[in-house]
Amino acid sequence: MTLRIAVQSKGRLFEETMELLKETGIKLNNTKRTLLVRANDFPVEVLFLRDDDIPQAVATGVTDVGIVGENEFVEKNEDAEVAKRLGFSKCRLSLAIPKDIDYKDVSWFNDKKIATSYPHILSTFLKDQNITAEIHEITGSVEISPSIGLSEAIFDIVSSGATLVSNRLKEVEVVMRSEALLIKNKNLEAEKSAILDDLIFRIDAVQTAYKKKYIMLNAHESKLQDIIDLLPGMNSPTVTQLASNGWCSVQSVIEEKRFWEIITKLKALGAEGILILPIEKMIL
Ligand code: PRP
Ligand code: ZN
Repeated sequence: MTLRIAVQSKGRLFEETMELLKETGIKLNNTKRTLLVRANDFPVEVLFLRDDDIPQAVATGVTDVGIVGENEFVEKNEDAEVAKRLGFSKCRLSLAIPKDIDYKDVSWFNDKKIATSYPHILSTFLKDQNITAEIHEITGSVEISPSIGLSEAIFDIVSSGATLVSNRLKEVEVVMRSEALLIKNKNLEAEKSAILDDLIFRIDAVQTAYKKKYIMLNAHESKLQDIIDLLPGMNSPTVTQLASNGWCSVQSVIEEKRFWEIITKLKALGAEGILILPIEKMIL
């Protein structure tokens, strides 16, 4: 039994998805991107598809699971289930207009023409807001359509915002936020579900480690309790005696986002020889 995973063949999610699969120990036999590739050492095969086709492929069972942007999943409105939110490839779907226009509120969009590749999400939003506008569906280069007179506004993916800036547009309404999702067919057989559980277990292990760092430091016994209080860790920190009198080595796990705050306090408590190490995997 093999679990088939659909992955975007190129574009926004491709690199990070392949990186994640690699980190979960899924090695692909064939580095050349053929349509279907079997993994070594793990009962998984990867099917490369256009992102637009992934939600339907999962819903109809052409593939068991898929990794796809939430934007694409919501737009296609197919009957599949979110197995896990993957947290990468974050972006927003926003309305943008030429930057020199005075904008007060969403009523500006009444009777305007808006170009987008996401007509379903856009029309739902406009209906909610009681706006009547004309939706012009195009598949690529949405951002140039106002400058060539094809539309007065766009509704598209914004990530860094660089595309908007270089096209003299400004983001005026964020309609939804998106990230990569692992989606699954609703009727997976038990054996495939078990492989999926194992895959999610591996993804969790990889991703938990992303946000954590391993910390080692030397401290004087007199400051030990204060230092331990600063380092909650997963469990209580490991403390070992050093050869020189009254000193010990403390090892724990800290959250990356608290890094600078913690380091400053540790130094104030006289910690020495502080080492911060990346964690490759972590099983909680
Ligand atoms: C999207 C979108 C913009 C760009 C925005 O295209 O259409 O062109 O990303 O990103 P930025 O805010 O970082 O500049 P994408 O690369 O997903 O490819 P697409 O042309 O297939 O939509
Ligand atoms: Zn696309």
